[in-house]
Amino acid sequence: MSLSQRFFAHTLAWGDDAQHRLYGDRKRQLFADLEGTVVEIGPGTGVNLPYLPGGLRWIGLEPNPRMHGYIQERLENRDLDATLRTDPAQDTDLPDDSVDAVISTLVLCSVPNVAATLTELRRILRPGGRLLFIEHVAAETHTPLCWFQHGIRPLWKAVADGCRPDRRTGAHLQRAGFSSVAIDRFHIGMPPVSPHIVGTATK
Ligand SMILES: C[S@@+](CC[C@H](N)C(=O)[O-])C[C@H]1O[C@@H](n2cnc3c(N)ncnc32)[C@H](O)[C@@H]1O
Repeated sequence: MSLSQRFFAHTLAWGDDAQHRLYGDRKRQLFADLEGTVVEIGPGTGVNLPYLPGGLRWIGLEPNPRMHGYIQERLENRDLDATLRTDPAQDTDLPDDSVDAVISTLVLCSVPNVAATLTELRRILRPGGRLLFIEHVAAETHTPLCWFQHGIRPLWKAVADGCRPDRRTGAHLQRAGFSSVAIDRFHIGMPPVSPHIVGTATK
């Protein structure tokens, strides 16, 4: 376990309350009708667990083992059939068409290859299954925020566990082969991790 993984886990845990304030209402709405088997990629400290309906089979894929203690603690208060693994989102080791939904919040900015990761997530979703996401994305081109995201990227990537603030995740989702993609954009005013997208990609 590296020092940076430990540092990032502490930082994330410290920001959990702010996350509930910033994203709580959107998460309640997005996750309300989940059922069956749900894979969550990069659950971090388990900050989404309080928003999930009871009775789900939940598979968390969290490569940073330093996060697992936080997740286990949150799982103790939840009626979920839960499994926690370290497989990365781009190589889940799950069968084709085997899950009802995948959750990704603030993770697609960090995966090494977003197109390959979306291919893998689409592979494991059953036909009609949904990828539910909240992600921060690149700002409009030729804006000061866009230039700032480009400039700070190397430093940000180093201190924020591989996060790229200027990733065009919405465009990647649109061309990842899903049968439909619904995306809303919103701003929380926290550069460089702004604007955000929230939505659903259906297989
Ligand atoms: C910014 S945190 C977000 C955590 C949580 N989803 C949230 O909304 O607070 C990014 C998370 O993605 C995880 N992560 C990074 N690369 C990953 C990968 N390739 N596959 C799955 N998770 C990954 C990190 O360990 C971290 O927990």
